[in-house]
Amino acid sequence: MVGIVRRADWALPESAATPEHVFVDRRALLAGFGGMIAGAAFGGAVPAARAQAGDQTLDLYPAKRNAAYTIDRPLTPADVAGRYNNFYEFGSHKQIAGAARSLKTRPWTVRIDGLVEREREIGIDELIRAMSLEERLYRHRCVEAWSMTVPWSGFPLARLIDFAAPLSSARYLRLETFLDPDAASGQRQIWYPWPYVEGLTMAEARNELAFIVTGVYGKPLENQFGAPLRLALPWKYGFKSIKSIVRMSFVDERPVSFWEQIAPSEYGFWANVNPQVPHPRWSQAQERVLHTGETVPTLLFNGYAEQVAGLYAGLDGEKLYT
Ligand code: MTE
Repeated sequence: MVGIVRRADWALPESAATPEHVFVDRRALLAGFGGMIAGAAFGGAVPAARAQAGDQTLDLYPAKRNAAYTIDRPLTPADVAGRYNNFYEFGSHKQIAGAARSLKTRPWTVRIDGLVEREREIGIDELIRAMSLEERLYRHRCVEAWSMTVPWSGFPLARLIDFAAPLSSARYLRLETFLDPDAASGQRQIWYPWPYVEGLTMAEARNELAFIVTGVYGKPLENQFGAPLRLALPWKYGFKSIKSIVRMSFVDERPVSFWEQIAPSEYGFWANVNPQVPHPRWSQAQERVLHTGETVPTLLFNGYAEQVAGLYAGLDGEKLYT
């Protein structure tokens, strides 16, 4: 599984959107590139974190583990999680870690706008230092039916919302990834609706599990994980956990997310994990655990029903599990 360049089965087939010769050439190129990365950068040991020049937060790691968020599954080894990533800005395959290094994450600013008391921009180091970091062990369930267990470092999204001071008229939080086709070759593929966008209701965003991630495995995030700032929503399919965030907007209309724009019948707004509701093209009943390769049953809300089921009371008309 790891090390093999494989197209995500849930994405738009590239062959459908690209002239065939371009498609074939790109595949050949990626196959070579993927092999190179696997051989050169990840010799098998846990990769050393590559700190970005100018990162003023290194002293904050490792963050103290919050014992309220542990799990009954072994952690996925760092080198496995770090070389099997979805980050379409750098390619529609899993071996994007090498390509993602071209993204500069310092300086980096996050824009806070929309229905807030005061719109503003804040530098990433100032932002992270204003929040106290903790470590949480979270499950991660991709809509493609694979899963991992990861020690994220970061802080509750609710704390960032308090900092942003939204107006009471804000109903949704819209999050946006950077747009930089020079650094991210995937963004030169113009048939995708860049930049990547995701959205949540305010109640979801304030749920205790919604976590802004700045580090993993006791170190600042490496780029392939979505440095310098990403989301983790462990009860939803992984595509909701948007990476490399540059903008958070408080809005009154439901945002249309990146994948929803591409295939609304397959990737909806809610995307809560539910083993009984299949994806239109495959079952969600089970998942393949990264590294061990074992197949285990998928749990309702990915095992987090106790914390989140109440968010969806009275929303029976909505497609909560797509
Ligand atoms: N965020 C952006 N900006 N671009 C992406 O392609 N992929 C999503 C999500 N966030 C994605 C993204 C998907 S499909 C998954 S499963 C997770 O990131 C993967 O996170 P990981 O690479 O840390 O496992």
